[in-house]
Amino acid sequence: MKKVVLIPGDGIGTEITTSVTTILEKAGAEIEWVEQTAGLTAYKEKGNPLPDEVIEALEEHRVALKGPLTTPVGTGFRSVNVALRQKFNLYSNIRPARTLPSIDSPFKNVDMVIFRENTQGLYIGKEHWVEEDDTKKHAESIAVVTQEASKKIITAAFEYARENGRKKVTLVHKANILKLTTGLFLEVGRQVAEDYSDIEFEDLIVDNMAMQMVMRPQRFDVVVTTNLFGDILSDLASGLVGGLGVTGAANIGDDAAMFEAVHGSAPDIAGQNKANPLALLFSALMMLEHIGQKQVAEDIRKAIYKTLVERKVYCTPDIGGEGTTSTFTQAVCDNI
Ligand code: NAI
Repeated sequence: MKKVVLIPGDGIGTEITTSVTTILEKAGAEIEWVEQTAGLTAYKEKGNPLPDEVIEALEEHRVALKGPLTTPVGTGFRSVNVALRQKFNLYSNIRPARTLPSIDSPFKNVDMVIFRENTQGLYIGKEHWVEEDDTKKHAESIAVVTQEASKKIITAAFEYARENGRKKVTLVHKANILKLTTGLFLEVGRQVAEDYSDIEFEDLIVDNMAMQMVMRPQRFDVVVTTNLFGDILSDLASGLVGGLGVTGAANIGDDAAMFEAVHGSAPDIAGQNKANPLALLFSALMMLEHIGQKQVAEDIRKAIYKTLVERKVYCTPDIGGEGTTSTFTQAVCDNI
């Protein structure tokens, strides 16, 4: 039995994690869950959105499955998601976007995997006031890009491409304007690419990338980029294949990994049995592959596809179904 930390999360978190653990159990995953509370729920219960027990459990077990956590906008505590990624140096945020059967989308045959640098860029949250006077407020934010971190994420993208029979890596930047920070990222990318002559390499400026992803998404295979661009482009990629409810994500470092849904805590539908567990389920499949339970992941993937094709009536409304979180969960379990 592999011990995995389970953080159900806020909003729809409990509903979707219950669905996912039910499906994994039915498929015979050999996992013992170590449940922990973080985010708004922990803040309300313990006055701390990231209690020490969560950190200790992750330090001990090194793998976590995490539901969405609410982050107050503008004020309040800083994002627990960002804190966990930084604490465990989970530098690779990996988000596949694949066209799924029966999911309505004008974009066909999409199959790309976005590698987003997860610990640097503007996301380090180093902001300060230059001027706080009410009439002339002026704020600044600092972006950090290092050679070392860039090399790690770009190498991870190339390694993934090689291991998974992918043909091309596209590096996305804004080096024409942000010449030092994203210029460095591009420079490192060109150096790393020299070690992977079997994989095609191209670079694109982020605004062009956004347009190309909509015009011709099929041309992208593996994509690697800095933190903020990756945040935006990976949501765009999710939108191409059916939205945030159907795309999973992994945060992987050298000695720890956290798997999570890409969507937020969806407070507007929390507690209504409407939440789509698919995104967290796809993240859980990435987790199963990571801990060496590939066959279980494959069995569940087949059951999901079968459910989507044959039994859409059981799926949640966000993907055009007439069902609920519970009916979807039961249908996947029946198909395993
Ligand atoms: P959101 O992703 O929670 O919701 C956006 C829209 O998508 C809503 O209409 C929601 O109902 C729908 N939606 C999201 N997940 C769904 C699912 N599984 N099934 C069906 N519909 C779904 O984004 P929003 O409203 O901007 O953020 C809410 C909270 O979540 C905020 O506090 C934010 O900070 C947090 N958040 C957390 C993330 C994480 O833990 N990784 C990621 C993004 C946001």
